[in-house]
Amino acid sequence: MNDKRYGHFDDQHREYVITDPKTPWPWINYLGNEDFFSLISNTAGGYSFYKDAKFRRITRYRYNNVPMDNGGRYFYINDNGNIWNPGWKPCKTPLDFYECRHGMSYTRITGRKNGIEASVLFFVPLNTFAEVQKLTLTNQSNETKKLKLFSFEEWCLWNAATDMENFQRNFSTGEVEIEGSTIYHKTEYRERRNHYAFYHVNAEIQGFDTDRETFVGLYNEFANPDAVVEGKPRNSHAHGWSPIASHYIEVELKAGESKDFIFLLGYVENEQDKKFVAPQVINKEKAHAIIEKLNTTEKVDKAFSELGKYWDALLNIYKVNTGNDKLDRMVNIWNQYQCMVTFNFSRSASFFESGVGRGMGFRDSNQDLVGFVHQIPPRARQRIIDIASTQFPDGGCYHQYQPLTKRGNNDIGGGFNDDPCWLIFGTVAYIKETGDFSILDEMVPFDNQPGSEVTLFEHLKVSMDHVIKNLGPHQLPLIGRADWNDCLNLNCFSWDPNESFQTTENKSEGSKAESLMIAGLFVVTAKQYVELCQKIGKEEEANRMQKAIDAMVTAVKKDGWDGEWYLRAYDFFGNKIGSNECEEAKIFIESQGWCTMAQIGAEDGMVAKSLDSCKKYLECEHGMVLNNPAFSKYIYEYGEISSYPEGYKENAGIFCHNNPWVIIGETLAGRGNDAWNHYAKILPSYVEEKYQTLHKVEPYVNCQMVAGKDAAKPGEGKNSWLTGTAAWMWLTVSQYILGIKPQYDGLQIDPCLPTTAKEYTVQRKFRDAEYDITIKNPNSKQYGVSQVVVDGKAIEGNTIPYAAGKHTVEVTM
Ligand code: GLC
Ligand code: GLC
Repeated sequence: MNDKRYGHFDDQHREYVITDPKTPWPWINYLGNEDFFSLISNTAGGYSFYKDAKFRRITRYRYNNVPMDNGGRYFYINDNGNIWNPGWKPCKTPLDFYECRHGMSYTRITGRKNGIEASVLFFVPLNTFAEVQKLTLTNQSNETKKLKLFSFEEWCLWNAATDMENFQRNFSTGEVEIEGSTIYHKTEYRERRNHYAFYHVNAEIQGFDTDRETFVGLYNEFANPDAVVEGKPRNSHAHGWSPIASHYIEVELKAGESKDFIFLLGYVENEQDKKFVAPQVINKEKAHAIIEKLNTTEKVDKAFSELGKYWDALLNIYKVNTGNDKLDRMVNIWNQYQCMVTFNFSRSASFFESGVGRGMGFRDSNQDLVGFVHQIPPRARQRIIDIASTQFPDGGCYHQYQPLTKRGNNDIGGGFNDDPCWLIFGTVAYIKETGDFSILDEMVPFDNQPGSEVTLFEHLKVSMDHVIKNLGPHQLPLIGRADWNDCLNLNCFSWDPNESFQTTENKSEGSKAESLMIAGLFVVTAKQYVELCQKIGKEEEANRMQKAIDAMVTAVKKDGWDGEWYLRAYDFFGNKIGSNECEEAKIFIESQGWCTMAQIGAEDGMVAKSLDSCKKYLECEHGMVLNNPAFSKYIYEYGEISSYPEGYKENAGIFCHNNPWVIIGETLAGRGNDAWNHYAKILPSYVEEKYQTLHKVEPYVNCQMVAGKDAAKPGEGKNSWLTGTAAWMWLTVSQYILGIKPQYDGLQIDPCLPTTAKEYTVQRKFRDAEYDITIKNPNSKQYGVSQVVVDGKAIEGNTIPYAAGKHTVEVTM
């Protein structure tokens, strides 16, 4: 099945090129790398914020709206009454040409109509609190054209949540200032706020608007604003209501002539005593400085080329050449890019996450870390410390924290018993990548309380202890509120229609609910912990934990095995979940993934049986579903999981995040063909080729969930971009399939390949070394390195001892 295509990859430019604006769902990109961020759709919809999508929302956005994706940074061109936008929306005037190129932290949208080309490059320069919109207008006709150009942004009143709720106040607070070609948004600046935003253009303007109803007209839409339709700005000054920013510029272009306009959407913070220069007149010094930095084409082009170099450096750390374009473009470009996006946004702001709900997740952020630790180790280090600072002294942790304040989120609290293990997972990945053991000595507080600081190592220890001290009747880990599967709420169920599954009373006290997923996760991370303890000379602690691992393995083999697969859990009352004895949902993916990664019972054939059962019951055309058969009935004592209709989300959706767990399990079992088959099913570039319309969401990144085989529309994707799938896909392909694994003492080469793989190269920068690795598979093996030659000399084993400098490595399978 090859359905309609809306775009294609351009690997040379590291872009995805969208050629039809009516994509099956808005296909978005992210701008910004550190402080100032924007979401931008293929029609220039979306919004900007500073650091925190909830508390510092700069421009307004309406989610779940009609029509879809309404509101953004819009340029209106009134060409003698013919009104259009370069990104097609909001006027939706048919264009002679449309193209949107999403690249690495930039988007370029080009439209042509009646001999005029308008091309806009959107990006956030490095170290700058502003979005640049470089608009290039070109007259491709044979006659002189007089155009009326209107820009448009709508201000959000900072707190995105109250902006949507508290109109009785908001309609009276809005304030702006206009100075030359700059419109300043200063709502609430007169009181506690120490920040304002501005929208500037580097050209003389012939008018402006700052009041939405005046500009648009009360009964119009963004598609036909009064001012644009009449070609006349109102020079409105907002007092309350809904402030906007629109510049009006009259442009004359001779035949063949081209003009650039640099628009800047910026953000400024001022110290309390420097807020004003006169009563109610804001201090614009910092805004002027940003404008000065970016007010010519040359300056903007330079900033853009610096951004390109920044991405070159990030993407030069791990580069593969397999000759398979579909694989290479995901590994070298898009998978790594998506990992950086999840680093920046966790699960907060996408077209499926409103930016007001969740902050950073404890488990999510630790998992995301494995996706970017090789690119930005210092920021990974800081992230680990921020996360650990939200832990409680008993090893439990806040489930989420707010990025702006870095404080634990009280609404959701703690009690998710998988959370502590992830801290080991993240920290070990960091040390193996960098060799920086000093992070273990870093003093880190509990719950951000000054005076409570202990070493990070101590945090790891209490994390492990939290699991050991919370075992249930079968000596398996108690689940608490939930484990990785947020919807398996075995202690948080209720018939109260007004309660949320996530925050309803936690009946953990005296509960028998145990998790096999945590059991496997514990064994994997405790093994990592033991190896770490040995490495730093803590033998006794290593032995103590080894005993706990052995006990856990025994418990899983005794009470966690169902005959053909691992059980999923025991419920509150001590009944089995994910067993052949169950009426529905007889098998779940999470425990298969983690217990096979932990290789529990491998010697007894459990691992192979479990992996075979995944193929038999969970696999379908689009990937592996979470559970099978799907729940068709609501089971009260399981919480949210069976609240979803069959085939969606945690009820038998293909929750892409957990597919790599089984894939890694396959690689550890040496089953390269099976691993590859599972992997390719959820690899965006393969999906892109086949299912653009069906899949709906962006074909260049993974989404959280693809509707499973029991769904009404199997194969339909949802919740794109912000998913742990990105980091897990990266870990899977970079370390387990292509097999380049950072270890404390060097780089281990340990691929697990499909028999079709003959040869490939990997260039890997690792600490202060650079390895040029060629892997040959002359005998079509799936697993097992027979020889590693480093700089012409065969080494023993398959770990290249770390040594700074450049090295050539030849590997034979
Ligand atoms: C969401 C959450 C993640 C959870 C998963 C499964 O992706 O962000 O924390 O593990 O759903 O429920
Ligand atoms: C819902 C979702 C789950 C997510 C959780 C946390 O339960 O199904 O995927 O992790 O919300 O917000």
